[in-house]
This record gives sequence, C-alpha cells and structure tokens, in this order.
Amino acid sequence: MGRERLKGKNILITGAAQGMGATNAEHFAAQGANVCLGDINEAGVAAVAERINAAGNGRAIAVKLDVTKREDNAAAVKALVDEFGYINVALMNAGVNKPKMFMDIDDANWDMIMNINAKGMLYGMQEAARQMIAQGPREEVYKIINVGSIVSRTAFLDVIPYSCSKYCALALIIGGAKALWQHNITVNGYAPGVVRTELWEQLDKDLVAIGMFEEEGQSMDHLAKTMITMQRYSYPDDVKGTAAFLASSDSDYMTGQLISIDGGMIMQ
Ligand SMILES: NC(=O)c1ccc[n+]([C@@H]2O[C@H](COP(=O)([O-])OP(=O)(O)OC[C@H]3O[C@@H](n4cnc5c(N)ncnc54)[C@H](O)[C@@H]3O)[C@@H](O)[C@H]2O)c1
Repeated sequence: MGRERLKGKNILITGAAQGMGATNAEHFAAQGANVCLGDINEAGVAAVAERINAAGNGRAIAVKLDVTKREDNAAAVKALVDEFGYINVALMNAGVNKPKMFMDIDDANWDMIMNINAKGMLYGMQEAARQMIAQGPREEVYKIINVGSIVSRTAFLDVIPYSCSKYCALALIIGGAKALWQHNITVNGYAPGVVRTELWEQLDKDLVAIGMFEEEGQSMDHLAKTMITMQRYSYPDDVKGTAAFLASSDSDYMTGQLISIDGGMIMQ
C-alpha cells in the first residue's frame, strides 16, 4: 500500500490507546492521514500520539474521551477540526467485553457493555456525522467505520451482552448507511475474529473465572484449532489493512457492509 494512500484524510479513532485502535492509528498516519485519538486512557493515547508524531508522516493529537458521554464525543470531533480543519473519517473502535454465563448476566454487566459498545458507538457516529453534514459536500466521500466482531452475526453462550452490542454495531452500519448517504457519508465496518490484544489477555482470565477453560492461556489456541479455518488467531497487524481500505477512497462505492477479517471463522 502506498505511503500516501490516506494523505489529506483527517480521521477520528475511538479507543486508540492500545490494541487495534492504536495499531490502526499508526498505520493510517504512516500513510499520510492526520489522526485524532480518543480514549478514556488519556496517558495511553498521548503516548500513541507521541509515537506517531515522532515517526513524522501524518500528525496526531490525543484527547480524553469517554464514548458513553455524548459531550465527550462532540468535544473529540471539535478537537480534530480545531487542529486539522475538517473531518473525513471516523473509526468507532472503542469496545469492551466481560463474559458471563447466561443466567448470571446482570444489569451492571449488560449496561456496561451496551453503553460503551452500542450507545457509545451511536454517539460517536452522530457527532462525527453532525460535523460532516455541517461541512457540506466535499469531493471525497465521508466515511464512518464501525468495529463489529464474529459475534455481529452469531452469539456464543458466554458473551451474550457483547454479542448483542456487536449486532448493534451491524444494525448501526446498515441503518446508518441508509440514513446518511444523502449527506455523502458511507457507513461500513469490519469484523475481527480472535485478535491478540489487551482485551483478549483479560478475556482469557475471565473465561477461566467463569469455568469455560481450566487454565489461563488455553482459550485462544483452543479457538484457533477448533473454529478458525486458517488455524491461528490474529494480531492487530492482520486487521489494519482492511481498516485502511475502508478509510481510503478505494472503498468509495461501498456502504452498509461489514467485512469479516477472522481467518475464516464465520463464513456466510
Ligand atoms: N480482540 C479481539 O479479539 C476482538 C475481536 C473482535 C472485535 N474486537 C473489537 O475491536 C475493538 C478494539 O478491541 P481491542 O481488542 O483492540 O481492545 P483493547 O482493550 O486492546 O482496546 C480497547 C480500547 O478502548 C478503550 N475504551 C474502553 N472503554 C472506553 C470508553 N468508554 N471510551 C473510550 N475508550 C474506551 C480502552 O481504554 C482501550 O484503549 C473493540 O470494539 C472490540 O470489541 C476485538
């Protein structure tokens, strides 16, 4: 992929302090994009922004962002516009998981996951779209990208609220695509499978705690052997090319789509 593929794109990324959000931010900037990184982990996004600015291609700023607060989403968009002039792309990446068996799902578990992954995504999309609409038509297509999951299209017994939230990500893609095209905005997403990030390090421990696995360190290999066609789990580097494609003008004639990038875990 050319180093200038995302030149001139100003991109908001939520949940960019670590994991796939951070890797995508560095990859986008390496291809010329300017990025605004938002996360509840303020020190984390500041460090990622520093790395990007030191690397010296696209520029980066970091903002404290809790996606469950509408005003934080609006402030992140404003920070991007104040710094870079306008927004082209918004990547709704912030997400959490906390497994529980079906009968143990309680209000706190449901609300925490749905508020961050689903309502936080809606807020982010709306605040990005509000700015895109205010900017008016530009030559490039505006893009909103939602991060889904293998569980955007199926559910596993131990992560049902997470599955619900990722079905929401897909509904927001399809509904958002229909609602926003009149403003030259596309809405697409990608659905990773099992990706080795801090999220999975914690998930692995939590799955042992609820009795799904006997020992820590088994879950990712087990899923790779039993469910992933390509027989290995993935890393953020496996996903970044698909994210960059959706941010680039190469995907201009696409909307309402969720692309699986999961080694052949879910095939439909
Ligand atoms: N890791 C996987 O296997 C996997 C698979 C499919 C989909 N996903 C999704 O990909 C996205 C990134 O996941 P990851 O594995 O890189 O996770 P991660 O835990 O490494 O990173 C998630 C980031 O989101 C931030 N965050 C959490 N709550 C927030 C909030 N309220 N406001 C703002 N930021 C918040 C965290 O601080 C963190 O920096 C998530 O949406 C996740 O659901 C992950």
